Amino acid sequence: MKTSRLPARLKPLYALAKKARKNSHSPYSGCKVGAAILLTNGKVFSGCNVENSSYGATVCAERGAIQTAVAAEGKIKIAQIVVVTDSSPPWLPCALCRQVISEFAAKSPGGDIPVHCTNLEGDAISTTFLALYPGLFSPEELRAGQSRA
Ligand code: THU
Repeated sequence: MKTSRLPARLKPLYALAKKARKNSHSPYSGCKVGAAILLTNGKVFSGCNVENSSYGATVCAERGAIQTAVAAEGKIKIAQIVVVTDSSPPWLPCALCRQVISEFAAKSPGGDIPVHCTNLEGDAISTTFLALYPGLFSPEELRAGQSRA
């Protein structure tokens, strides 16, 4: 995917993600990740990756930010996401995070939101959620399956 420079208007969200990244608990991978989400109501939340010696219990930065937002707000709709890693090119959200984002992306299911994957140098892969996760598993699929059960 194409890497460009992070747009200036995203600097506040980027700064929030970088701040959360500093708190990353990542003694096993050594990779600190931060994420910040802007909700459609204008509020912002952040998260960092929290690893565990039982590796599968690790929670990614994106999911951490979403958990925090839901705990604070109840219903949320995500308008925009910024992720910060120290990698070139920047990391894209993992598959688990894509599925969790799909639950709360504004206009979901079927809607789309910008996702900016950045690094400490300010490089950015600016893409959209549906470009990252076409054919997502949505509540519609679930309902269709349940109606046949
Ligand atoms: N990680 C994230 O926080 N977000 C992602 O989307 C990819 C991976 C974290 C999980 C783990 O702590 C470390 O990066 C290495 O996989």
